[in-house]
Amino acid sequence: MATTNARTPAPERPGAQEWVPADADVPALAQAARACRGCELWAPATQVVFSDGPPDAPLVLVGEQPGDSEDREGEPFVGPAGRVLHDALAAAGVAPDAVYVTNAVKHFRFEERGKRRLHKTPDVAHVHACLPWLSAELAAVRPRVVVALGATAARAVLGRAVRVTQLRGRLLDDAPDVGGAPAAVLVTTHPSALLRLRGKGGWDEAFDALVADLRTAARAAGLVAGGA
Ligand code: URA
Ligand code: SF4
Repeated sequence: MATTNARTPAPERPGAQEWVPADADVPALAQAARACRGCELWAPATQVVFSDGPPDAPLVLVGEQPGDSEDREGEPFVGPAGRVLHDALAAAGVAPDAVYVTNAVKHFRFEERGKRRLHKTPDVAHVHACLPWLSAELAAVRPRVVVALGATAARAVLGRAVRVTQLRGRLLDDAPDVGGAPAAVLVTTHPSALLRLRGKGGWDEAFDALVADLRTAARAAGLVAGGA
């Protein structure tokens, strides 16, 4: 008996590579990413969210994916997690506009619940599809240090699954090759993990730990005094 299978078809997910211009600078990459159809996440999102910050910054921070505010505004880290990140950078003695910020996945993945759009963690397949953008950014910016904020970013930057709690705060040298120069990588918690602690016990310790990790990275990048 023939059966009709009513499953949703597998998403079109060729990966971003064919949309990434060769040897491009950051503005050219950001422009090209608007056309990316490397995975299905572009369709329900408002727009691509690329990056922010100096295109020659010594320190690059990689987040997970844009959130609701970022999707609407087209800029990374402009919502609640961004405020935590900016406060932590300031506390670490780093001017937020001295660092280049980007995300492992460039479109907001969400689930609709009535009028609300709830963040949905990207799958490994989305991280993989979007990776050509991050690789091209790192090759263009050539930072000395790359900070991975949370497990999704760590997977993108290091190319393997890691436990953030095990690795956090250390300068790792299994680093990505950034335009011929290896960068150090530091893994830390994602600022949105701190948001869940706000007003509860544990906030101060978690915030201080994020600040300490950002300071370690900024020192190694030569952005704040104190040596690596
Ligand atoms: N969280 C992220 O990982 N990136 C953003 O840009 C905003 C929130
Ligand atoms: Fe392209 Fe990344 Fe957006 Fe997918 S999430 S469409 S790979 S930019």
